[in-house]
Amino acid sequence: MSTGPDVDLDAIAREGLMAPPGAVTPAHDGSGRVQLSFTVVGGQDRSVRVPPGVTVFDSASWNGIAIDSTCGGHGTCHKCKVRLDVQTPVSRHDRRTFSPTELEQGWRLACLATATRDLAVEVPPLTTRPKAATVGVGRQVILRPAVQKRYVELVAPSLADQRTDLVRLTDAIDDLEVTVDLAVLRRLPVVLREADWKVTAVVVDEALVDVEPGDTTADRYGIAFDLGTTTVVATLLDLSTGTPVAVASRLNKQQPFGGDVISRISATMMDPDALGRLQQLASETLDELALQVCTEGGVDPAHVYEVAVAGNATMTSLLLGIDPEPLGVAPFVMPTAHPPVVLASEVGLHLHPRARVALFPALGAYVGGDIVAGMLATGMDRDKRTRLFIDVGTNCEIVLSDGDTLVSTAAPAGPAFEGGAIRCGMRAADGAIEVVRVDPAEGTVVLGVIGDTTPRGLCGSGLVDAVAELVRVGLLDASGRFVTADAAKESLPLLADRLTQVGEERVFVLHRPTPDAEVADCVYLSQRDVRELQFAKGAIATGWALLLEQLGLEQDDVQQVLLAGSFGSYLSPASAIRIGLVPKIPVLRIVSAGNVAGEGAKMALLSVRERVGAATLLDTVEYVELSDRPEFNDRFVDLLSFPGGA
Ligand code: FES
Repeated sequence: MSTGPDVDLDAIAREGLMAPPGAVTPAHDGSGRVQLSFTVVGGQDRSVRVPPGVTVFDSASWNGIAIDSTCGGHGTCHKCKVRLDVQTPVSRHDRRTFSPTELEQGWRLACLATATRDLAVEVPPLTTRPKAATVGVGRQVILRPAVQKRYVELVAPSLADQRTDLVRLTDAIDDLEVTVDLAVLRRLPVVLREADWKVTAVVVDEALVDVEPGDTTADRYGIAFDLGTTTVVATLLDLSTGTPVAVASRLNKQQPFGGDVISRISATMMDPDALGRLQQLASETLDELALQVCTEGGVDPAHVYEVAVAGNATMTSLLLGIDPEPLGVAPFVMPTAHPPVVLASEVGLHLHPRARVALFPALGAYVGGDIVAGMLATGMDRDKRTRLFIDVGTNCEIVLSDGDTLVSTAAPAGPAFEGGAIRCGMRAADGAIEVVRVDPAEGTVVLGVIGDTTPRGLCGSGLVDAVAELVRVGLLDASGRFVTADAAKESLPLLADRLTQVGEERVFVLHRPTPDAEVADCVYLSQRDVRELQFAKGAIATGWALLLEQLGLEQDDVQQVLLAGSFGSYLSPASAIRIGLVPKIPVLRIVSAGNVAGEGAKMALLSVRERVGAATLLDTVEYVELSDRPEFNDRFVDLLSFPGGA
């Protein structure tokens, strides 16, 4: 029973999913993008593009759209109701939840509905005040934020009751142990008297950070930051409900100092002023995003009491103004694995004046807090399956778990995935080709372009797609060389004229702006681009191959590959298999995990228990240094070729 490439309908049926009469959802082959248009009743409408195969629930959650849930996306709470504009497969859980009429109307459980085509999704308002939130890859987090608020109505002092102001307050919140600093002590007598002894105590961890007049318990917010080298993402969270209020992202303002961590470290080594400037730019990036999410969410920044930051070791050091030089030279030593808690104001954030910043701990100079956050979000230490986590980027971090043991490594992939060192490369912005489909029979090249506009260049996922497609149709051989012009004319006559030259270099034209445009003015893939991609994927494949060996596993043993990060999540799984970036396993086992660093940061804000879990991961995961391994070079050379398939 099979309807398409790598789609096992028996497996789908075993999970209780079956197509109803009239269902039009096609089986997906892991390629392209689908667009989900969310209509949020009582909220903001949003359109998002995700790789096919992601659930509607995850697509919403990654983009800050709250859908009811108390089970963590396991299909048991039956709360994640949404209405889709087309008939999609109905699970047994859907049948238990909805009447036949409702099913006919398109109602489904969002965590079981897979996005395999463009969908319009109606999201009802939240009905429950959750005790838990679903974040990351199906992780269920019991809400226990470090930020606590208590509204108290105190008895005014008298000659018979001369307790101090502080004792009067702490006696009323005796379920919390608090410490107090001078800034709060200065405010305390004034606020208590002006507010007629009706106040809200704000406690973060054990620190009494403020006493606010009246009852402000409903206003309790935090911001989770994914502090990436390229992109920074902020999510404003309502800590009372665990729901995202607003999400925003922007390029890291440190970009002028170079696209990767090494160039930023080098800048600090060459210019004594660079460290201060880089710190300031990191602060400005976070502060502007904080203001943006607060404005969009209609939240007073003074009600944001805590910030969690997941960043790599270099980004974390630069934000704190710590010299990153030792991270960039052997033996690659971090200043600390556990950055201290600092005040948000100390890193330039204009939030509550005593808001705290919790920074993720790091495993090593090149497996930083962003990856620890990612492991937390994907539950790498809690799943018995053999899972491979790959955060694809300039520096690619890889974690493998066999259900018991966790090993990790970092592979230097270079800038190809960010569009760097690619002739027509660009970032994933409007005009970037992100999807490429080649039809040799029709002689067509169909392009998916971000912003649905005229193609201007090729971003990382477009590069992977272009190479994978040209390998598939036979214009690139397994060694990564374009076939000869004669061979192309003979086997692929309708595409052969796209295979041409710019100067001495052979290129394949993807987009010609006008019929008589010079090749140099076209968007094309060059032979050198293919080589850049080969080196990048060779480094990554060597990383996971050596980790598999370390645990005595074969490619086939991998039950799930999680492609993570702002680039990895948008890779076509089918293309990733075809170029050998991931192990050769059925495409449905390859999952786009989304921005897991940001998800981990959200978890840390929502639960002190999860925060402890992140610290514990440091004792659980073994770091494997690849450059120490004698077999690294041979294995790298072996893995440069393209396996094809998928
Ligand atoms: S059934 Fe609980 S989240 Fe979908």
